[in-house]
Amino acid sequence: MSNQPIGIFDSGFGGLTVFKSIYEQLPGYDYIYLGDNARAPYGNRSFKTIHEYTWECVQWLFAQGCPLVIVACNTASAKALRTIQQQDLKNADPTKRVLGVIRPTAEIVGNYTNTKHIGVLGTKGTVQSGSYLLEIKNFFPDVQVYQQACPLWVPLIENGEYDQPGAEYFVKLYLDQVMAQSPDIDTILLACTHYPIIKGKIEANLPAHVKVVSQGDIVAKSLVDYLHRHPEMETRLTKAGSHQFFTTTDDTADFDHHASLFFSEPVKSTYVAANDLVGC
Ligand code: DGL
Repeated sequence: MSNQPIGIFDSGFGGLTVFKSIYEQLPGYDYIYLGDNARAPYGNRSFKTIHEYTWECVQWLFAQGCPLVIVACNTASAKALRTIQQQDLKNADPTKRVLGVIRPTAEIVGNYTNTKHIGVLGTKGTVQSGSYLLEIKNFFPDVQVYQQACPLWVPLIENGEYDQPGAEYFVKLYLDQVMAQSPDIDTILLACTHYPIIKGKIEANLPAHVKVVSQGDIVAKSLVDYLHRHPEMETRLTKAGSHQFFTTTDDTADFDHHASLFFSEPVKSTYVAANDLVGC
């Protein structure tokens, strides 16, 4: 039987924070991770470009044998997922599935707040899409959501600058801005999969009573549940426990160095040129 892994995609390193939780909760499956680091960040790009890049990456994962792809990126989930699920898949292969990170997060995040005031931190694209405002309102109509775009955080993380003293200024800047929107915020949602990489810094710059929620475990639990509810997909997936990493940056050594830190185990990636994703 040929390999039928679960594909996990992000614009760069961020999806590794989701992959780590998925791998912990579902260790037996085969996985392929694709980071489009050469074209990250996606956060400030247009709807059209985010859709085009995301669909290229998803199709490439399909071509590697993945019947199921997790878009472990909020920006891509906000801007591209609906078109992929409702239009692109129909024309490509209706038996494949693509899942995102926004809905499973919105379904649960209202349970974390006592004051019913949540701050949502994301990229400019995620915030402008209004996806979290809509989705959280659906599941928790009495929760107030305050959004804040943090456009410099992904570049700091992708460029390995997040531990430098200068990064502290930008971490504090956006946190002060979100907390200024309401003194009652008691929960901060990291609605960008890159942000858990700086979770320690975020917590250090918030009042102690504010809970910081990252998505990895939420998305992983939701995938466990999905596989229970969809045996037709679960049985297609191969289970040799392999995991492979691919990146569109030709500096694989740099990817491996950072990815090993985030993934907490040695990572050896393979380069795939962004141009070669097209038309596969
Ligand atoms: N990890 C992506 C997200 O969750 C980052 C997007 C970007 O590349 O700007 O939104």
